[in-house]
Amino acid sequence: MPVDVLLGLQWGDEGKGKVVDVIASDYEVVARFQGGPNAGHTIVFDGTKYVLHLIPSGIFAENVTCIIGNGVVIDPVTLKREIETLESSGKEIKSKLMISRRAHLILPTHKMLDAASEKSKGDQKIGSTLRGIGPTYMDKTGRNGLRVGDVEEPDFQELLDTLVQKHLHLLEGLYGEKPEIDAALAEFMEAVAYLRTLPLANTEAYLHEVLARGGNVLAEGAQGTLLDIEFGSYPFVTSSNTTSAGACVGLGVSPREIRKVFGIFKAYATRVGSGPFPTELLGDTGNALREMGGEYGATTGRPRRCGWLDLPLLRYAINLSGVTDLIMTKADVLSSMEEIPVATAYVHRGETTQVVPYRVEHDTTPVLENFKGWMSDITAARKPEDIPGDLKNYISMIEAYLNTPVTYLSVGPDREQIIDLS
Ligand code: GDP
Ligand code: IMO
Ligand code: MG
Repeated sequence: MPVDVLLGLQWGDEGKGKVVDVIASDYEVVARFQGGPNAGHTIVFDGTKYVLHLIPSGIFAENVTCIIGNGVVIDPVTLKREIETLESSGKEIKSKLMISRRAHLILPTHKMLDAASEKSKGDQKIGSTLRGIGPTYMDKTGRNGLRVGDVEEPDFQELLDTLVQKHLHLLEGLYGEKPEIDAALAEFMEAVAYLRTLPLANTEAYLHEVLARGGNVLAEGAQGTLLDIEFGSYPFVTSSNTTSAGACVGLGVSPREIRKVFGIFKAYATRVGSGPFPTELLGDTGNALREMGGEYGATTGRPRRCGWLDLPLLRYAINLSGVTDLIMTKADVLSSMEEIPVATAYVHRGETTQVVPYRVEHDTTPVLENFKGWMSDITAARKPEDIPGDLKNYISMIEAYLNTPVTYLSVGPDREQIIDLS
């Protein structure tokens, strides 16, 4: 015992990678439990920036085992590239990694289906990262998928051929596409051969063993609560469970093992891809936030949509996952703002409410309240005493509204730029 979970409370990109890297050394294991290479988790130290897509963000910590859990969908091509890139910069990866045999495989044809599906949706497209996430989870729940463990079995080629044929039928029948797949399949097979050399394991059994002897595990979420398949802004969501319940099914640990749930959020809000965003700023202020915050996707490079903090949505996210500790990032980005608007309620069909409506895009306007900005550079702050009074007030207001303590404050992208408030 126990398992702590760290997950995003907004639409992803809250700074999960950075904070997991900072706290990883408190744990024996760091494990990703859902999502796939749609994630882009950034870690900065010693002047170098690393962006991880499949490898857990604990990989740079000493003596930490990193698990890619059963709930994750894995593209062997991306995984190979990611490990090779990190190893070429002198990092030890393979000996610290363990991959669940139950994790599902993303095939090249899953990526083609993702692209064809998005194209067919026109202006209703999800804004997917096109990494094949949706089609792979569809095959998983449709009971057609291929799993990591299958690469060790004698009938792998046969299973692969069957699924690829199915995808080709779909591509042609549904979308009228007859793609050339030989090169992509050859690259996939090369990556599968590489995958066979990695430490594949029954990771749920390993985790049970670690927990039974008192080891600590950190479960690392990808995406964010508002992209959750059940509770996000459906259909503009991803295809996995991004809440704390997802950590149990995505790793094979029981809810009784969960101790803390760290909920991470930006001091404002961003979203990449389509879908409702009640506090979105479409004009100059939104553009300014994007530039000051470097808000461009870590996976696709797309500009992120920017807006104000939304407290009703944060409360909703906290309740869904039983968040015990809040972590606020990117407060430094707001340092030049004299006033900071925050959504504290909505007006929905003429009524003021703090409950998130079923479809926020219909007849809903956020009620914004202004809070005083701190108007000073906080990027060198390291101790609670270094925090300006107006930022302390901003944090206290958030804690009071959400009835949950903020235990870490991140003041810049670097590993060192963090303040422990616990
Ligand atoms: P993740 O997907 O949640 O891991 O977040 P991303 O890595 O996609 O996006 C977060 C971005 O903000 C990255 O570029 C981080 O380096 C950066 N970042 C993280 N924390 C802070 C912070 O406190 N301040 C600033 N200015 N940047 C931060
Ligand atoms: P991290 O882990 C931000 C968004 C996409 C799209 C929707 C569905 O870095 O926070 P998908 O590729 O899953 O079919 O895309 O979800 N999305 C993310 N947005 N951060 C992410 O991950 C995301 N992963 C997916 O932009 O709107
Ligand atoms: Mg990201």
